[in-house]
Formats: sequence, C-alpha cells, structure tokens
Amino acid sequence: MTENRRENAAEHSPTRASGADRPARSTRSPTLRTREPRRAAGMRSLRQDWREEFPYHWRADDLVTRRDTLRFLVAGTGALALATGALAIVGHLPAARVKPVAVVRADELGPNQWRTFDFPDQFTQGIIINLPGVGLVAYSDVCTHLSCAVLYQPGANRLYCPCHNGLFEAATGNVLAGPPTRPLPLIQLARQGDLIYAVKMVER
Ligand code: FES
Repeated sequence: MTENRRENAAEHSPTRASGADRPARSTRSPTLRTREPRRAAGMRSLRQDWREEFPYHWRADDLVTRRDTLRFLVAGTGALALATGALAIVGHLPAARVKPVAVVRADELGPNQWRTFDFPDQFTQGIIINLPGVGLVAYSDVCTHLSCAVLYQPGANRLYCPCHNGLFEAATGNVLAGPPTRPLPLIQLARQGDLIYAVKMVER
C-alpha cells in the first residue's frame, strides 16, 4: 500500500521529471562549460581567417602548387643552361692584355733581397726575389691555400705563408709543405733598358 502511494506520487508530481525525460546532467564544471563556446567561437574565427587568407579549395590549391612548381623547375633549368653556356663562352675568351709593370731597377736588389709590387693591378701583389745562384724570380704573393700573403725566408730559400705554415720553394714556387696544393703563380719578367718589368702572370 505504502509502495503504491510512493509510485503514484512520483508519477503525478508536477515538479519532478522522470529519469528518462530529464536532460542528461553535464558532468563538467561550470567554468569549462563557459569556456567551450568561447573556444569554439575562437576556432571558427581562426578558420574564417584562414579561409579568407587562403581562399583556394584544397584540390585547386594542389593544382596551383603543382603548376607553379613545374614553372619554377622549367625556368630554373633554362636559367642554369644559359648561365653554363655564358660561363663556357667567357672561359674561352682570350685573357685581357696585361700591361707590363716596371718592378725594380736591374741592379736594385742585392742577393737575397726582395720586394713586393702591384701586378697586374693595384688589387693583386707579386713578390720579386734576387735568389743567389738563380737570379731574379717573381711569383704572385697570394698563397694558393686561402690567399694570405707569403713572405720570403732568405736563409731557407723558401717562401713562407704565416696563416697555416704553408711553404713554397723559392726557386720554383712549388709547394714544400703545409696545406697548399698548388704552386704559386709565376710572374714572367722582362728587362728593358735598366728596368725589370713584370709582363705576365702564369697560373699553374
Ligand atoms: S693561407 Fe697560406 S697556408 Fe693557408
């Protein structure tokens, strides 16, 4: 009897809904519930911004990218071929004529004396040495390793590069020791009257 009364009261109570009718109560905290719509709104606006900045559909975007890449590759290959051709032509042009440069007077340097001079222009230097038993020799003074200036060592008859201890033979300009692998470029000399001229730089 008591049981029946309880059931009836539950059925007819205007304030309480049955478990099935009631909306499921959220288990999340109120703070989270207020944040979610905001976050969703933020995402929407981000998505909107993204759409405005990149208005292509994925498929269209893919096509544009492929087309652009193809254009870039074709243009790049063409430019490379042109540059290679131009370099080949320039490489085969005869070198510009070098103007002879007066370096020293014929009797100016005593045995083992040396001096540097500008050749073929003011940006590059050579070194001329009066080598006992050999006479006047001249080389570019630019080390063939990393372009430091070499110095003559009279006692040892060699040229010394202070940057990484490179050594060159004074009589030939060939490498004796250190990191350089190529000999010093030779500078050909010519005498005219009382003067010694540097006339040509020979890479070796
Ligand atoms: S620059 Fe001359 S040895 Fe390195």
